[in-house]
Amino acid sequence: MKVLSGIQPTGRFHWGNYFGAIRQYIALQENEQSFYFIADLHALTTVRDPEALRGFTRDAALDLLALGLDPNKATLFRQSDIPEVTELMWLLITLTPMSLLEKCHAYKDKLAKGLPADAGLFSYPVLMAADILLYDSNIVPVGVDQVQHIEVTRDIATKFNLTYQREVFVLPEARVLSETAKVVGVDGDKMSKSYGNTIELFDEPKKLRKRLMSIKTDSTPVEAAKDPEACSVFTLYKLFANETQQAELAARYRAGGMGYGEAKQALFEAADAFFGPARERRHQLAADSKTVEDILQAGAKRARAKAQEVLNRAREACGLSARVG
Ligand code: ADP
Ligand code: TRP
Repeated sequence: MKVLSGIQPTGRFHWGNYFGAIRQYIALQENEQSFYFIADLHALTTVRDPEALRGFTRDAALDLLALGLDPNKATLFRQSDIPEVTELMWLLITLTPMSLLEKCHAYKDKLAKGLPADAGLFSYPVLMAADILLYDSNIVPVGVDQVQHIEVTRDIATKFNLTYQREVFVLPEARVLSETAKVVGVDGDKMSKSYGNTIELFDEPKKLRKRLMSIKTDSTPVEAAKDPEACSVFTLYKLFANETQQAELAARYRAGGMGYGEAKQALFEAADAFFGPARERRHQLAADSKTVEDILQAGAKRARAKAQEVLNRAREACGLSARVG
């Protein structure tokens, strides 16, 4: 089975990205042939500052590698290093019904808010379809918000195969990333860059502690018993702690006499112990930019070999000449 997914470099990764997506990507590399890419072409629909885009792209690669993505097991690359993807997008978009894209939420939501949408955002799902179909991907691990795009990919692939009477594309399936991993932010809502409530993955201990101390809690006095399940601090603590540790902290909540500051300190210690080693690895990798660039180049080379094969299949099917070399 071939697994593929992409992640947009539109800001620094946060705990939601890790527990909701990155952790699963890394787990899948053990048993599946996996392709992961940094979706910098997609990010162009929102990031319009070239230095920022370069920085976020590099940060994304460093973060993924520090967190355990192993370039010997998975293929890691930058989307824009594979020119075949934009060519395939054209082949696909020539038979994509407007009505299919009009239904897609990113574009629809923007219009509903009265904001001007550009053609890039409108056709964003077709670029995503090209990303997926270009590597004969079978499984696409994504968050629920992306499932619609995998459906669109299947629709486009089916239409292409039917139109040209050939099984050019493999139909991919979405694998929805665990719902239980909906991580809350410092204000108790879903953690998201767009809400400004994120906890970044690699903050240094002092900054991390300060951020955790800012988590919103209610005003139950220190002496009173507290409900751990109603508290964001405890919800976040569960991401890091084993069952015994969770039961211990829950008992302290229920017993009363513990302030939220203490729970936050426990969360800080657990999170710092969990991400500390990856933060160290990230420092080492960051000091060696050539290695990271080499990894991305080697990934692009492997990905391109597959991309050229599939693109040629598609070119031939629709009457263009297959490209040699
Ligand atoms: P953001 O909402 O911060 O812009 P993205 O949409 O770029 O994050 O997220 C990339 C992936 O990370 C998503 O597809 C989703 O799987 C995961 N993710 C993001 N935020 C969370 C969260 N709060 N809980 C669980 N998973 C999340
Ligand atoms: N659109 C996805 C997101 O915002 C990122 C992405 C781009 C992607 N191309 C993809 C995900 C292909 C899976 C497969 O999260």
